[in-house]
Amino acid sequence: MRGKEFFCCLVFLAFCVFQHGRAYQEESFARVSGNHFIVNGHPFFANGFNAYWLMDKSYDGYERDKVSSALQQASSYGLTVVRTWAFSDGGGRPLQISPGSYNEDMFKALDFVVSEASKYGLRLILCLVNNWSDYGGKNQYIQWARNAGHYVNSEDDFFSSDVVKGFYKNNIKNVITRINTITGVAYKDDPTIFAWELMNEPRCQSDLSGRTLQDWISEMSAYIKSIDENHMVDVGMEGFYGESMPDRKQFNPGYEVGTDFISNHQIPEIDFATIHAYPEQWAPDQSEDGQEAFLKRWLESHIEDSSTVIKKPVLVAEFGKSWKRSGFTVERRDALYSTVYDSVYASARVNGAGAGALFWQLLAQGMDGNRDGYEIIFSECPYSTANIISQQSRRMAALDY
Ligand SMILES: *[C@@H]1O[C@H](CO)[C@@H](O)[C@H](O)[C@H]1NC(C)=O
Repeated sequence: MRGKEFFCCLVFLAFCVFQHGRAYQEESFARVSGNHFIVNGHPFFANGFNAYWLMDKSYDGYERDKVSSALQQASSYGLTVVRTWAFSDGGGRPLQISPGSYNEDMFKALDFVVSEASKYGLRLILCLVNNWSDYGGKNQYIQWARNAGHYVNSEDDFFSSDVVKGFYKNNIKNVITRINTITGVAYKDDPTIFAWELMNEPRCQSDLSGRTLQDWISEMSAYIKSIDENHMVDVGMEGFYGESMPDRKQFNPGYEVGTDFISNHQIPEIDFATIHAYPEQWAPDQSEDGQEAFLKRWLESHIEDSSTVIKKPVLVAEFGKSWKRSGFTVERRDALYSTVYDSVYASARVNGAGAGALFWQLLAQGMDGNRDGYEIIFSECPYSTANIISQQSRRMAALDY
């Protein structure tokens, strides 16, 4: 190539990079169109994973390589979405030390997670609080309210106490408007973020009518949209049916938890539905076959309701199988992954609401302390499992309408 051609080529390349950067900034937020997600006008499917630990492991420089290597490996298996915790309330390694007061070093850790995900082409579902007391959760908010001299009765007051709701909203605002110290982009303007999730697995057993949670979801999702119009919002629920379609309760594992899969997801500010699927925990007394049958019905009923009643995409946002439970074999875990992936794919290919699945959970090598039985570590994972995961990525990515 001669000098002049080389120069023209450079100018052209610079132009392409500029255009690409602009497109990324302006258009590439993930959004919903009908039954599926779109990015830049094309269908987008979420074959992905959970890794709740990303921010925590980014906290001090020593373990950031684990975050990078997990994201890099995930990307090489074609995974597109990662769901993680953007909270750590109180305790020894907090993000939010006390209501409205933050640990800047932990915020920088979250900045790293966002910038690293972007580097590997992954999008993040950032969850904003826990139902469980791991990393603080509802319980920590209740304690904070008590410490400030307010009367709160039980953990379920998280959803109704004005003081606690104020703490939670203030935290949402501080996280969403955070300006990333690495990229310089405000979280609310960053297309790397796929969605904000209100809570990990909300349950409100003290009000099985579902009204408490319904009101809380409406209020909080509208609040997020009032400060961030760019991003989708999801509830983070497990998928239990409630009062709005009582005949669907037959698909629950035999109990209710104060959520209502249908009405909770019909709220206009909620962009897509989620379910989790843990037949071995929810139906522990059933045989392997019984659990498999439960799982199929659970997937089918929710995908169908998302397509025809809710009319929004649905993500299987957590599923997995633990080697710590009796009867575990790799073949059974592979079978469970295949069941989930097949039903999502079968729906997606006919333009149904099945939009993706995120396994629980991906770890990097050298994280033995985080093994919970459900972990997948690509470098040690059997070929059969890795192959099922990458094949799902490939066939989902090949779909176009
Ligand atoms: C959520 O929190 C309640 C206590 O407030 C607890 O009973 C329930 O098991 C927790 N877990 C899930 C998955 O909701």
